Amino acid sequence: VTADTGIDALTHAIEAYVSKKANLFSDAQALAAMRLIGPNLRKVYHDGSDRAAREAVMLGSTLAGLAFSAASVALVHGMSRPIGAAFHVPHGLSNAMLLPEVTAFSIPAARDRYADCARAMGVATQSDNDQSAVEKLLDELVAINDELNVPTPAEFGIDREKFFELMPTMAAQALASGSPGNNPRVPTEAEMVELYRSLW
Ligand SMILES: [Fe+2]
Repeated sequence: VTADTGIDALTHAIEAYVSKKANLFSDAQALAAMRLIGPNLRKVYHDGSDRAAREAVMLGSTLAGLAFSAASVALVHGMSRPIGAAFHVPHGLSNAMLLPEVTAFSIPAARDRYADCARAMGVATQSDNDQSAVEKLLDELVAINDELNVPTPAEFGIDREKFFELMPTMAAQALASGSPGNNPRVPTEAEMVELYRSLW
């Protein structure tokens, strides 16, 4: 539960910050959320009794919630919900599965914003240029999933044939949710099918 909800909260902060609907108000909350969640997510996962770390992540989660209430979420959430609906994957977990892949897809359209995310999370510094920072962000998202034991769809027990058969339906449902339209790089339905395919 800590891993699923923690990565969900991190996703809220990142997506609010890169959203086309982002604004100064949501930016301040999203960046503060990433500063709180980034350095504490592993701590709360490994030690549930670390109250200082849990307080930081709880406050980060709350601020991330405020941020996306103003700026909306984007492509990760859009593509995540159909996976949850079709295969009964917990919400934060299906987000976690998608976060590295969708971030890599989206970076070319908002490299500076994703670089800010890396700096806020503490995985890049002011001395990193944007390209270096986004590479560190991608490495970090993969490393978090690894350390927090986020399963692949196959490891979760999703049937490959069913998943591939449903990819076009899931892409259509994702599009209909409106969230992909907030993404800095707005995908076509066919591109979402490709993202589902590469997720597998
Ligand atoms: Fe969420």
